[in-house]
Amino acid sequence: MNTLIVYASKYGCAEKCAMELSKEFDGNVETVNLKENQRIDLDKFDKVIIGGSVYIGKIQKEVTDFINKNLKELLEKKIGLFICGMQEGNELEKEIADNFPADLLNRAKSVKHFGGAFDFKKMNFMEKAIVKKIVKVSSDKSDIKHENIKQLAIEMQK
Ligand SMILES: Cc1cc2nc3c(=O)[nH]c(=O)nc-3n(C[C@H](O)[C@H](O)[C@H](O)COP(=O)(O)O)c2cc1C
Repeated sequence: MNTLIVYASKYGCAEKCAMELSKEFDGNVETVNLKENQRIDLDKFDKVIIGGSVYIGKIQKEVTDFINKNLKELLEKKIGLFICGMQEGNELEKEIADNFPADLLNRAKSVKHFGGAFDFKKMNFMEKAIVKKIVKVSSDKSDIKHENIKQLAIEMQK
């Protein structure tokens, strides 16, 4: 069974999560950074996992573009979806519903929140200001949900 993990990350957190996820699979797993490559031959894969980080409510544009371009084919695969972000609860549910098409969400074997991280060294001035003012966080914070990463892999391999 061939597994494809495609992701887009701005500062590396979603990439780290995608790599951690890839280690949970037996058999052939390929990971592709959608910021580097959008031309992927989906024929080779029966499982496709798609994810990325969320900024101001929106998942990375490359993730949306990839889904829109390949939706018909994706609906024939075993699908897993994940987002990286620091929201929780209802806001998180809304982010998932807003950023993936309903068809794909219904089709997905597993949809998980992988958590996220604030890394102030990497953020630009505006981003730092937004996080300080809106989230009221002013130093580095990491909340990666390793258990959800494992769980997605388990649900995809059932
Ligand atoms: C300016 C800014 C806006 C953000 N907006 C959201 C948001 O709307 N929802 C959310 O869940 N997380 C939000 N986050 C948190 C990021 O999704 C989190 O830092 C994530 O781990 C980034 O992953 P990346 O390094 O792969 O891009 C925001 C972070 C920054 C810096």
